Amino acid sequence: GQKVLFFGDAGIDDAVALTYAYLSDDIDIVGVVADYGNVSRVQTIANVQYLAKVFKFPSGVRIIGGAENPMTGEQPIFYPEVHGVYGLGPIEPGTNAGVIENFFEIVKIIEEYQNELIIVNAGRLTSLATLFLLYQSLMKKVKAFYIMGGAFWVPGNVTAVSEANFHADPIAVRIVLTYAKNVTIIPLNVTDRALVTPEMVNYIDYKGKAPIIKPILDFYYHFYKSRNPSILGSPVHDAITLMACVREDMFTYRTLPVHIVLEDGTTARGQSIADIRTYIKFDEQEKKHRIAFDFDYNFFFRDFMTVLTGE
Ligand code: BDR
Ligand code: CA
Repeated sequence: GQKVLFFGDAGIDDAVALTYAYLSDDIDIVGVVADYGNVSRVQTIANVQYLAKVFKFPSGVRIIGGAENPMTGEQPIFYPEVHGVYGLGPIEPGTNAGVIENFFEIVKIIEEYQNELIIVNAGRLTSLATLFLLYQSLMKKVKAFYIMGGAFWVPGNVTAVSEANFHADPIAVRIVLTYAKNVTIIPLNVTDRALVTPEMVNYIDYKGKAPIIKPILDFYYHFYKSRNPSILGSPVHDAITLMACVREDMFTYRTLPVHIVLEDGTTARGQSIADIRTYIKFDEQEKKHRIAFDFDYNFFFRDFMTVLTGE
């Protein structure tokens, strides 16, 4: 399968993404970088270790300690109401046990999988930006980047216009988008509609391949439902982002320059802006990124259910 180094802040939808990866023949997770985000870095590490135990991760999968704080100099803000006190809904993953790998292990992984490795970033962008600041030429050896983040002319989920991964550390986003090549952004435009319904959850549970799904997604749905009583399911942002690296055809894209608003203390901080006016001609030289604006829900539904039920 496709070799993937996963950066995340597990987090319910991060855990759904890792469950998908674990059950899919098309993806091999080679390492997980555990960052602050939905919960603290220490908690993310404990959660990833818990998931590694539940999934019986092969011994080759490295768990690496990532960023603890954003580049903005602020303290991170956590989201227990969305993901639960520990980040995995009602699950109590216990404390951080055993050894985790040092951040610089990432360098070895990228070198080991020269040009074959995809990085999926499902949390804040701080660790990834740090790598670009430290190892610009090494980062050219990464085949592609899939980033869950941003909201392009659709509502945000932290402010009216900003999405959580971009809002928490907009400086990191700007650094990544300045240096990275072969980037695909999977924003809220897509992920807010990647809904997993209670019926899907119950069927997955009945099939018994992914026992963790029901407790975490029931919790997650309860939160989304309290915010919007007519919502049909909960959005698995990070899972559809991970799926994107092996399911290109599920999406429609546009490749455009992306601007990130840095201005602190405003509603716009962390906003992602792309000029979607069709008559605008961009400078050839200008840096552009591929943005998924739409996707085929039936494709998503079938693929997600096939992988998680084994049918
Ligand atoms: C993103 O922010 C995190 O809280 C979620 O896990 C997801 O990656 C959604 O805005
Ligand atoms: Ca996440």
